[in-house]
This record gives sequence, C-alpha cells and structure tokens, in this order.
Amino acid sequence: MKYRSAEWFGKKDKMGFIYRSWMKNQGFPEDLFDGRPVIGICNTWSELTPCNAHLRDIAEYVKRGVYEAGGFPLEFPIMSLGETLLKPTAMLFRNLASMDAEESIRGNPLDGVVLLTGCDKTTPSTMMGAASVDLPTLVVPGGPMLNGKHQGKDIGSGTVVWKFTDDLKTGKMTYDEFSHAESCMSRSPGHCMTMGTASTMACMVESLGMTLPGAAAIPAVDSRKKVLAQLSGRRIVEMVKEDLKISKILTREAFENAIKVNAAVGGSSNFIIHLTAIAGRIGVDLNLDDFDKIGSQIPLLLNLMPSGKFLMEDFYYAGGLPVIMKELAAVLHMNTMTVNGKTHGENIHSKVTCYNSDVIASYENPIIKEAGIVVVKGNLALNGAVIKPSAATPSLMKHKGRAVVFENIEDYHERVDDPNLDIDETCVMVLKSVGPVGYPGMPEVGNMPLPKKILDKGITDMVRISDGRMSGTAYGTVVLHISPESAIGGNLALVENGDIIELDVEARLIHLHVSDEELAVRRTRWKKPDAIADRGYVNLYVNHVQQADKGADLNFLVGKSGSKVARDSH
Ligand code: FES
Ligand code: MG
Repeated sequence: MKYRSAEWFGKKDKMGFIYRSWMKNQGFPEDLFDGRPVIGICNTWSELTPCNAHLRDIAEYVKRGVYEAGGFPLEFPIMSLGETLLKPTAMLFRNLASMDAEESIRGNPLDGVVLLTGCDKTTPSTMMGAASVDLPTLVVPGGPMLNGKHQGKDIGSGTVVWKFTDDLKTGKMTYDEFSHAESCMSRSPGHCMTMGTASTMACMVESLGMTLPGAAAIPAVDSRKKVLAQLSGRRIVEMVKEDLKISKILTREAFENAIKVNAAVGGSSNFIIHLTAIAGRIGVDLNLDDFDKIGSQIPLLLNLMPSGKFLMEDFYYAGGLPVIMKELAAVLHMNTMTVNGKTHGENIHSKVTCYNSDVIASYENPIIKEAGIVVVKGNLALNGAVIKPSAATPSLMKHKGRAVVFENIEDYHERVDDPNLDIDETCVMVLKSVGPVGYPGMPEVGNMPLPKKILDKGITDMVRISDGRMSGTAYGTVVLHISPESAIGGNLALVENGDIIELDVEARLIHLHVSDEELAVRRTRWKKPDAIADRGYVNLYVNHVQQADKGADLNFLVGKSGSKVARDSH
C-alpha cells in the first residue's frame, strides 16, 4: 500500500532529494523514508499555555508507540491557546489555530495525525483543523491536574476562583489568604480538574470515539497517561493501514452520543459552540435545537464541580467515562466506530465497573433527572440562547424581573459595585457587546459577578443574560450565547433599564416584555458600534465570524478541503 507521504519521500527525482535531504539533518536513518506511515504529532505545548506545558513529554511516549508499530513520528507545534493569559479571550483565536492545524497537516507529508490537547480551545481548534483535512486522526487528551487541596479541603480550578473572589469582596478572606490559595489550586501539570471546558472537551472526544477508551479522565501526571500516549502511538499506525479516517468516526450518531454524554457529565455550555463548529467542518448537519432535543432529557450522572462536589481525579478512580457510557448504553448509539477499530459497544465490555457511586450515579438513580443544556428562544434571542440547568438555581429558572443593563464590559466594571446602582436580587442583569463580533471573540464573562451589595445580603445567584459565554468552571442562572448578538443589532441591543425580562426554562422562553412597535422605534435610534480593528486577524475575524448558534466558526472555514495538494514546493 502506498501512503500519502510517498508523494514527498518516495520520489526519485530532484523533489525527492529536497524532501529527504533536509530531513536527514535531524539524524533520521534512510529506512524511515521507505514508505512506512508517517505520523504527525500535532503539539499544542507552550509555556504560555500552562495546562499543556507537559505535552512535550507526552509526545515522546506517542513517538515510542509509533516507532514500535513501524511508523515514522514527526512532532510539530501549532498555535497554542491558553485560557488564562491570552487577551482579550482565547476564543478569538480558536479559528486561527484551527487554520494553523489544518494547513500544517495538509501541507506536510503526513499519513495520520495524533492531536495532543488540553486547555479548552486546544481540543476544538485541532479537531476542526483535522476534520477539514480528513486523515486518520486520534486524540491524546493531556489530562487534568491533580485535585486542588486547600486547608484540608478539595478545591476545583476555576470554580473556586469565583467563590474566593466573592469572599475577598465581602471580607471573608484576606488578600494574603487569597494569594496563598493560588498554588493550592494549581499544584501539578494538567488542565482544570473541574468539569470545566477542558474536561468537557476531553469527554467530548472520548464520546465521539476519537480517543482510546478511558482516556479523558486520566490525570496528566498519572503514569497511565504515558501508557495511553504510547498505545495511541501504536494505534495510529494501524489506523493509517486500515485507512480509518476521521470522517468514518465523526458520524451524525457520534455527535448525538457526545451530546448525551455531555449532559450526563454536566459538561460546559461551551461544548455547544465547539461541537457545532466541528460538525460544520466534517459536514454533519447539527443545529442548536438538536442539543435540546437530544440532550436535555438526559440525567446528570457525574457529581463533579461546578455542578456537584468531586473533581477529575475522583472521576478517574471511580472508573472514568466508560462507566458513564455504560450507564447510558440504552440511549447511546453503541454501534458507532471508535479509533481503536471497535465500536463503543465492544469497548464498553463487562469489565467496566463503577468503583464509587458517590462520584458516578446510576442511570436509574441519577443526581438530576434532566440535566442537558437547554435552548431558550424568544424576541430576545430569535436564533436561540442557552442555559445550563445543572449549574443554575431551580427557583430562578422561571423568573420575571426588571432589567439592569450594562452596555459593555467596561460599563459593567465601572458600575456594578456602585452602592447607588438601582438593583436588587429580583432584577435581571443584562450585559451587551460580549458576543463574537462585539467583544470581539465572545469571552467568558456571561457569569458576571453579582454586585457587592447583593453578595453582602448572602445572595449568591441572580438571572444574568448576555451574548457572551461563561467558563465551564462557572455556575449560576446564566443565559448565554444570545443570537443574534447585540453588536450586529440583535434585539438584545435594544434592551433598556427597567424593561421586564421573562425567563421560563421549562417553556424554553426568553422574552422581553416590550412591544414590537416600541422595539422598532428603538431600532431607528440604534447605532452600529464602530469597527473594532481595521487590519490583521481581528479584522478578518469580525467580518467573517458566524453567530454562536452556528458555532462561531469563520464562514469560509466551514466544510473540508481534503488532504490532496496538487503541486510540489519547488
Ligand atoms: Fe486551561 Fe482551564 S485554564 S483548562
Ligand atoms: Mg475555560
């Protein structure tokens, strides 16, 4: 069998010389160019992405496996996106990184690719890029950090940040105690160990069939993460021989499985945007309503922060994602193919056991009966908005309140703690201009912290609505991803202080109690915000980004171009 890489390394002419000779400066012996499968290891390692900083080490174990199976591994870096440092938000660059991944995979002599991922956006960006090329592809998720430990208690990445910030605000914590907690929370390599977006993405790729079974929950520093990497290296070589392309894994049924599993693990609301974008690349028809239809009735089985009380280490020791999939077997498509060449049904064999029923509940006796993300619509969100019930306060899921409007994030920061702000806990906090175009990049600010004077009363949740996202580690009765967004003239832009807003999750409704006539009058007064960037990637982004309900991909990136490149480089 002749592989794609032979179009580079197999040539007997000038081009073959060029393709091989320079590579030999790295000390690769002649026989590695003999036509064996060439495996790209797409590495999102970076010291600026702390959650992925250990992936250079993990790549070495993938290489071992590739060599053992008779392949030729070649590691390459792509743009790495870290949630914590990148301004204005890593999400702005997800599509850019996906372009990097796509072109790096297609333009190089690769027959298959292993994606090393971790921090939130590094999973969807590489998956989107790989889907648009469609080679055999396998994901090795970098794994979560060990549980945070603080004053004898387990604390979860992100989740505890929101709580400690409130405690600092209300004087329950001194600044010294606050800064001491930083190293207690983050004490090993790996990504956030709550069911934040990174853990959600790891569960997503495992449930899609893109990892070896059991991959998602293994902590980054656990020796079994290295074993997983090595076995993944062996397996990708076989996948190339079997021509098991990513499009054979990513079927409509695989996406439906991922939606159900996400509900059962209490996954992040960001899951919706990323899964939709990946579906758009591979050509699977998936819309916002599918998430509600397929997922909202699925019970919550996993008791992890922010919805519950445990952390990823506990999840792994309790048996990990295979236990969740086994519990859900009756409602999943168990005949979908996975990267190991077996179906989910074959992988979830009888050996899968739950070792801690406090961490993973059974399908018959779940933590919450219906837990999946709900899609709400109405005049305030004509194309939909989302809310994660498992992170919300049940009594606020049906609520009518007076709007307190913040025109943008600066306005919010300036006024939220002003003692004269006209607000009480029955109000609905409204934040505009934090959508894909408006911010730009749709940051995780939708769970805006409550005003100090309300926190001082001991109140911890209010209805908050915006066109932004929230961190997967966050919680609250928060309506997110309002589409169309305010910056392009969605009705959210027309909300004024004092308007009545109604949220009714059960009825799937988000309604602004203002007449169509009045909205039309307000629209004549509305001014489109000034252009945010006149050059560079941001200019490209704001002119081409799709709305949240479409996955916020750039419109010209939807679909795939395959792996063919007709022309040589010289
Ligand atoms: Fe990287 Fe949470 S900040 S996973
Ligand atoms: Mg995040």
